Amino acid sequence: MGTILEYLGGDHRACDELFASAEAAVAQKNWGSAHDLFDRFQAAMVRHLAMEENVLFPAFEAHTGNSMGPTQIMRMEHQQIRDLIQNMARAVANSNHNSYLGLSETLNMLMQQHNMKEETMLYPMSDQVLGSERDAVIRAMEAIAP
Ligand SMILES: [Fe+2]
Ligand SMILES: [Fe+2]
Repeated sequence: MGTILEYLGGDHRACDELFASAEAAVAQKNWGSAHDLFDRFQAAMVRHLAMEENVLFPAFEAHTGNSMGPTQIMRMEHQQIRDLIQNMARAVANSNHNSYLGLSETLNMLMQQHNMKEETMLYPMSDQVLGSERDAVIRAMEAIAP
């Protein structure tokens, strides 16, 4: 079994691909594909945030005894990400191309910064502190329903 960095870093890539596909469809005003691709992006993000908030962060906090540190900041950023995705869902529902592209640009910047912090700090730290429990944490994340 691999590392937290490999598992969740790979999931970041998968979410990014769906994000880019949905954005391209909106940019072309291809609303049929845009609805479908956005739904898939949103579902992938809901699952990713749940894997972190319900499995990884509690395990990290239990092993470091710190629930006010990096995980607290990540949870706050998740809320900003959720708010933007919710507004994007409204823009897709209304076929509002300009609104969607403005929001998706903001989300893209926020998500890239957030993912970078996780991939350079939180995930490597998690791989270190979880020790022998790491595989069980990855299995618990895999078990989160898509
Ligand atoms: Fe995150
Ligand atoms: Fe993440």
